[in-house]
Amino acid sequence: MCGIVGFVGEQGDALPFIYAGLKRLEYRGYDSAGIALASDGQIALKKTRGKLEALGQLIGGMPAGVPCGIGHTRWATHGRPTDENAHPHTDCTGTIATVHNGIIENFQELRQWLVERGHHFSSDTDTEVIPHLLEEYGGQEDVVQAVQKAERRLKGAYAFLAISAREPNRIVAVRRSSPLVIGLGEDANYVASDFSAFLAQTRRAMVLENGEMAVVTPDAVHVMDMAGAVQRRQEFTIDWDIRQAERGGYPHFMLKEIMEQPDVWGDCLLGRTSGGAVVVEELGITREQLTAIRRIQVVAAGTAYHAGLVGKALIERLARVPVDVAVASEFRYQQPVFEPGTLVMAISQSGETADTLACINLARQEGMKTYAIVNTVGSTLARESDAVAFTHAGPEIAVASTKAYTTQILVLTLLALALAEAQGRARPDLVQGLLNLPLLGQDILSRLDGIQTMAERLSGQSDVFYIGRGLDYALAMEGQLKIKEIAYIHAEAYAAGELKHGTLALIEDGTPVVAIVTERDVAEKSISNILEVKARGAEVWAVVDEKLQKELPVDHVIPIPVLEPLLSPVLAALPLQMLAYWTAVHRGQDVDQPRNLAKSVTVE
Ligand code: F6R
Repeated sequence: MCGIVGFVGEQGDALPFIYAGLKRLEYRGYDSAGIALASDGQIALKKTRGKLEALGQLIGGMPAGVPCGIGHTRWATHGRPTDENAHPHTDCTGTIATVHNGIIENFQELRQWLVERGHHFSSDTDTEVIPHLLEEYGGQEDVVQAVQKAERRLKGAYAFLAISAREPNRIVAVRRSSPLVIGLGEDANYVASDFSAFLAQTRRAMVLENGEMAVVTPDAVHVMDMAGAVQRRQEFTIDWDIRQAERGGYPHFMLKEIMEQPDVWGDCLLGRTSGGAVVVEELGITREQLTAIRRIQVVAAGTAYHAGLVGKALIERLARVPVDVAVASEFRYQQPVFEPGTLVMAISQSGETADTLACINLARQEGMKTYAIVNTVGSTLARESDAVAFTHAGPEIAVASTKAYTTQILVLTLLALALAEAQGRARPDLVQGLLNLPLLGQDILSRLDGIQTMAERLSGQSDVFYIGRGLDYALAMEGQLKIKEIAYIHAEAYAAGELKHGTLALIEDGTPVVAIVTERDVAEKSISNILEVKARGAEVWAVVDEKLQKELPVDHVIPIPVLEPLLSPVLAALPLQMLAYWTAVHRGQDVDQPRNLAKSVTVE
């Protein structure tokens, strides 16, 4: 989703910082970019459709040494990705500039009102109403007061920054749902939509809460509510290693993030087990709370939803607590029935997914207990849920989720074990198996060369099927999403036993089928389903329990050591991620920033 960066310094040069900060936010996905500087009573503005390299060509002509400015990477919501629609946007006089993330829901009505009052608009965006409202409310004289008045007129979920050429030593930042964080430097301060934009400059930071605004000057940050009442805010230190946010020598972030999973799993499990048992408190919940749970309702989107499906199988099998898993965008509008004793659990990498957040807010309004499995510390979901377990996967930069998914499953496994114990169920001895996963993962990743051949073949196909049963079916769903989103190949996941109810009709000579067979109890049945597709000419590639590999009548086998079937999704995810990655590479796609997908989907 859109990226926001602001800089205000004693005498620093805003331009290079803003450009570098926008670069750091590239992973969020964008289609246009721009920068505005407050200089000599005027706003210097450059913006363009396309990638930051295109903006880089334009900014050479901007004034140097200007100490205040804002920048933006836009992912189009209202209005096509054009130069005009790119941010920043200015008022009629060109002396107030704003950048914005999120949606102004009532922009049509505001725009009409402003046009009637003589304002001239030059874009199709919802954003442009903001600078015109600021102009209307005296922003040239006092931008802070104008922001307070304008904000009362806005409806929606958004964050924006405003600068005025007449007050070139301050940035006004507003947060209404969409995230904004502030970095505290020595003789400059920074505002951004996430920490990675300013990690190279400072590790001291503070978070702007929902419904707050901040006036940021070179040497101070004044946080207040929208009525102007001062809000106390603690600063904290960000402990992310900046190198964690870089590619580390790999050609793409996605490959780096796939390869680092064994280490990340270690981080995720660290301190969460002791003497063969789960340390419940490290999951952000108490044993008493776990004992009281009668049902779990998972809400999530995309890959996180698929992790939820794996979690359902784990929790139901281990703890015998019923689990429903819902796509967040559906759940929020289905007038859900919340039964007493239900824990509403959100799963999210970013912690900013609008639909998932809406479900948690709905559950809270209904008096339900909420729990979040989140990667991003300081995210809205982490702050708005009653309890949180972090996945500790580190920054996931590639838009396609990989390490966030496997760590979500790890946390769900820990939770299933803790829940089983708290509910008085026999506790299977899975902890050692969990601790073995990093080594097994390393081993699998070192033996995946053959996947290149499959990827090359798949890259020339237009359709592929993923089949499996039980946990393998849940994993098949994630496998097909990865192929769709980065290689742009049509893919379908099918419960292997469901194929014969119609879909077999689509299997022809040479149709690629990826079969996953790690569930021992149903392995024979899965093998029968493989025979069915083989009989119709399918080319079958199988990710299988290594003990079964000889029995399988398939074209290629990727063996997985299945020491403990319940833990196999984490390991079996690796070849599926790699298959998608190399297929996308063979097709020449922009792997880290696939089309039409943003890292953090903060609009519905
Ligand atoms: C898939 C992907 C998306 C996200 C989904 C939820 O690779 O990245 O499907 O999984 O948008 O995002 P989070 O987990 O941030 O809530």
